[in-house]
Amino acid sequence: MAKNILCLWSCLFSVLIYTSVHGALEQETENNIQIFENNNDFAFRLYKSIVAQPDSQSKNVFFSPLSVSMALAALSLGAAGETHQQLFSGLGFNSSSSEEVHKAFLNLLQSLNQRTDVDLEVGTALYVQDTFRPHADFLEKMKRFYLSDGFSVDFTKTAETTEQINKYVSEKTRGKISKFIKDLKSRTVMYLLSYVYFRGKWLIPFSTRSTRKRTFHVDDETTVPVQMMYKKDFFDAYYDHQLSAQVLFLHYNDSFSMMLALPEKGLCALEEVVSPQHIVKWLKRMKEREYEIYVPKLSLKTSYSLKDTLTGMGMMDMFTRKANLTGISSDKLLVTEFVHQASLDVDETGATATAVTGVEFMFASLSFTPVINFNRPFMIFVIDRQRKTVLFMGKIVNPENMT
Ligand SMILES: *[C@@H]1O[C@H](CO)[C@@H](O)[C@H](O)[C@H]1NC(C)=O
Ligand SMILES: *[C@@H]1O[C@H](CO)[C@@H](O)[C@H](O)[C@H]1NC(C)=O
Ligand SMILES: *[C@@H]1O[C@H](CO)[C@@H](O)[C@H](O)[C@H]1NC(C)=O
Repeated sequence: MAKNILCLWSCLFSVLIYTSVHGALEQETENNIQIFENNNDFAFRLYKSIVAQPDSQSKNVFFSPLSVSMALAALSLGAAGETHQQLFSGLGFNSSSSEEVHKAFLNLLQSLNQRTDVDLEVGTALYVQDTFRPHADFLEKMKRFYLSDGFSVDFTKTAETTEQINKYVSEKTRGKISKFIKDLKSRTVMYLLSYVYFRGKWLIPFSTRSTRKRTFHVDDETTVPVQMMYKKDFFDAYYDHQLSAQVLFLHYNDSFSMMLALPEKGLCALEEVVSPQHIVKWLKRMKEREYEIYVPKLSLKTSYSLKDTLTGMGMMDMFTRKANLTGISSDKLLVTEFVHQASLDVDETGATATAVTGVEFMFASLSFTPVINFNRPFMIFVIDRQRKTVLFMGKIVNPENMT
């Protein structure tokens, strides 16, 4: 019994905002492009599944689909039979091409970790009970395809091991996620972690002097005060008539962008229909012109136990006695936890002190500047334009409830 528990936790990252220069487009193999499309498709299915959970309608949501899919794909290295099948179809991959999937993840990991104009780190780690011997083949593939760090620990010393893992997570997330594990079970035999840390500087920074307390409309009846940043400048944007949503791009250095989508008819209507194809369309159609923009400062932490969510997406056997993890060990294992934490910070950083005179409004004339005001619920994406990959995704419903 004591050996029956494989704890799998998926993790984290943290986003700060900043920015700058557009990266050169690299030649991409067809195979990799396909994998990125599958990843984005998974991102939206996961989002819909998370917001479908009880009482999440009124909550802020923020997570890294990349971190979750990477943890699931790494886990699939040790899965066989029906369990493997469920993981692959849950992720949107074809089971007969597992080698290609793992190679594509390796390629993505390496290329993201090479980017130097933003602070970006993606990786995995494996903690193994010192008395437990996983198959050498599994450990070797974790290292080869997922560049996994490996540690031998004693889970029965829960306080010590909790501290060790939390310290690792904290280092990888630059202190943004410092208490990842709260209640480590002493019967854990293995623990898989995946993380994404991203911090970029805005290409066009906001000025702290223009940030003011303003009103955010949570819904028709509720308003909350929020620190609202302001900037008048040239931005890429696109109005999607089909979705009745205004999309604003805030670019970072090196082809990374934050995309904010502000629906006219309420967030639910947008959430239901938005898809990876919309991201592709927005990227293609965005146009630069002068806008006055209002964007709330955000400092958000989220935490999800994804067991029910993943079960609902068809990846259920791994959490039950039906789990087939014979690629990890001939001992009977199952996954007992699947935790994901994320944090997001949006601020003016990179602030150059441009004095902004408070002309918020002009009569319609040739010099009329449209206003995009994120003063009501909106969706948020952090993407790599070069690879069209969604790194982070979420929605801001109430900027006052940040944890
Ligand atoms: C953005 O990248 C360029 C090089 O591509 C670098 O010179 C510049 O300092 C970077 N800007 C920021 C804000 O990091
Ligand atoms: C796991 O899957 C493999 C491949 O389908 C199968 O041969 C094996 O019997 C399964 N093991 C268990 C414990 O279900
Ligand atoms: C999976 O890939 C194999 C070979 O590459 C192909 O024959 C099969 O039709 C694919 N299945 C699905 C569901 O795409």
